[in-house]
Amino acid sequence: MAESGIEDGAYVITIDGPSGSGKGTISRLLANELGWRFLDSGALYRLVGLAAMSHAIAFDDERGLATLAAHLDVEFVSDDSGSGTKIFLEGEEVTTTIRSEACGNNASKVAAIQAVRDALYERQRAFLVAPGLIADGRDMGTVIFPDARLKIFLTASLEERASRRYKQLKQKGLDANLSALLEELAERDERDMNRSSAPLVAADDAVSIDTSNMSIDEVVAKVSDLWQRISV
Ligand code: DC
Repeated sequence: MAESGIEDGAYVITIDGPSGSGKGTISRLLANELGWRFLDSGALYRLVGLAAMSHAIAFDDERGLATLAAHLDVEFVSDDSGSGTKIFLEGEEVTTTIRSEACGNNASKVAAIQAVRDALYERQRAFLVAPGLIADGRDMGTVIFPDARLKIFLTASLEERASRRYKQLKQKGLDANLSALLEELAERDERDMNRSSAPLVAADDAVSIDTSNMSIDEVVAKVSDLWQRISV
């Protein structure tokens, strides 16, 4: 049982927010700075979506998708060379593949199914090891780690988020179209915020940060500062 914000002997900082709010980048940098582990929960939903496609499981087959999620053969391999974490699905590297907008949209569809979320619950909790975990997602502070010591909810305008996603995709050498991205993000926001299972919402005790006019370094410094204040 959690005791004053320490879960299983480890601290947790949750970083939730919509697509393109900067969660992934900020969470990775914070995890590096603190020497903590990093949970990219969105990657798990992306992997379920990708596995569903390769096993020809329909997105309305809730049972099939939940079984797939429960038995997902995935490996996150940290790379000490600084090039980040490599992700393997059934032995095949899919680090870049799962970042496409198509995978993001499929992830958002499978993520709306409660049985899929239930199947991934323990897998996410298992990321928690001392000294701490930065947990990035949509329901980290509300469902997966409700006793986290610090909860952050990152936001940014739709236009800013689409433009960030556009640059990210281009940098990765993936196809991108700004107006299509705007539309897709709006659609994804709508689905993520209005689903009945663990909708995207700030936890009551989360600190909200609008990152629209902030640099990555400014956001990291702000969260770091919030953590320093409460952890002394
Ligand atoms: O953070 P991301 O873009 O990789 O997430 C992909 C989708 O997965 C997102 O549209 C909603 C879903 N998701 C979720 O429902 N719960 C999480 N904790 C993380 C992601």
